[in-house]
Amino acid sequence: MLQRPRGTRDFLPEEMEARRTLEGTFRDRARRWGYREIATPEFEHLELFTLRSGEGIVEEMYTFEDKGGRKLALRPEITASVLRMYVNEARVIPKPLRWFYFADCFRYERPQKGRYRQFWQFGAELIGADGPRADAEVILLAHDLLAAAGARFEIRVGHLAPVTSLLRDLDPADRKRVMVFLDKHDATGLGAFLAEKGLVDLPDRLQALRGIRDLSELWEIIGDIPEKARIQEMIGLLDAEGIRYSLDFGIARGLDYYTGMVFEGFGENLGAENQILGGGAYRLAHLFGGDDVASVGFAIGFDRVMVSLGERPAAQGLRVAVLATEDGRARAFTVARAFRDAGVTAVLDLSERSISAQLSHAAKSAEFAVILGKREAEAGTVTLKDLRTGEQREVPLPDAVKEVKRSDAR
Ligand code: HAM
Repeated sequence: MLQRPRGTRDFLPEEMEARRTLEGTFRDRARRWGYREIATPEFEHLELFTLRSGEGIVEEMYTFEDKGGRKLALRPEITASVLRMYVNEARVIPKPLRWFYFADCFRYERPQKGRYRQFWQFGAELIGADGPRADAEVILLAHDLLAAAGARFEIRVGHLAPVTSLLRDLDPADRKRVMVFLDKHDATGLGAFLAEKGLVDLPDRLQALRGIRDLSELWEIIGDIPEKARIQEMIGLLDAEGIRYSLDFGIARGLDYYTGMVFEGFGENLGAENQILGGGAYRLAHLFGGDDVASVGFAIGFDRVMVSLGERPAAQGLRVAVLATEDGRARAFTVARAFRDAGVTAVLDLSERSISAQLSHAAKSAEFAVILGKREAEAGTVTLKDLRTGEQREVPLPDAVKEVKRSDAR
């Protein structure tokens, strides 16, 4: 028996319906903030991601050569594509641009609960806005989406400037190594690496950035930095909105393009892979031949939110089963169409079983049965049976449709 590739999933109708419901919630909320949906290609030139996405992600990429010898990659994330698209298509559109996407990404990772090789992100990018209000808007939007989904989550907000100021004496390559240790929460590796460099007090100071409760503690550790006012104003805006979040100035992010504010979200019931959100302020457009536009955005790990929410059957509309004897069969499609045109799901019984066998099957999946027999065919009527109460009446088709609709509204 052939199996699907490792790290991929099939979705049965129940799960697909629940996914569509969550997608709908995210789309609806994002639109209320003035964000509009975009889409980019599933594969891109490999270079788009090697330019600035960070080594981790590059090692995890699905890359291939096409028949023309071009090096391509399945997208491991969407932000680089969105900024490429901005440079290609949208430089002349007045900024800021507020865009969102719901799209699948591919990463060659070791699969486990909440970690897949094909997974979906719901993300938003605010392009061409810079400053504490832009940072705050994006954090508040992410919070709004997750809250609207009914998720239980914790948001951690940080900024790269404090870590960068502590690492100012390291050369860029070493700084990058430190950021990788921080992102992986590898305190042992970090300690050993910095000890080798003779920087023995640095690990403790970096560690202290994680546990900060309010900003005054941060300034005590790092002193004044140019970003101080911006950080204070952003945090003030979050506090004014009353959202729950914690400070974490040890957030390093796995991707290389961040330049300022960074934030992450963590969900419940997820085990080790509990990060459901990542984002921050970044610059990418200039690498792709565009202007050096400031942007800020995030992506929610859609599949992790699904796991975190657990089993939630999607609301089903009413269903009508259209049952017929041999004499009634010719009308079945026409009768079903009348219900469908009125917005009701109508499903034909395609078997040639007796009406009582058709009824017992219908009772498992529908609220109403419409029975088409010889008598109904002659009288131009249908028999409408409410499968929940057992009541049934022979009525003209338009009356049956009305009655089902009335019951739907109740
Ligand atoms: P990221 O943190 O690499 O950021 O991914 C965002 C989210 O995607 C993660 O927090 C996680 O929930 C989910 N995710 C990542 N890998 C997997 C996987 N293998 N299986 C399931 N879910 C996964 C980005 O991709 C940035 N582009 C976010 C961003 C947008 N920054 C600015 N704008």
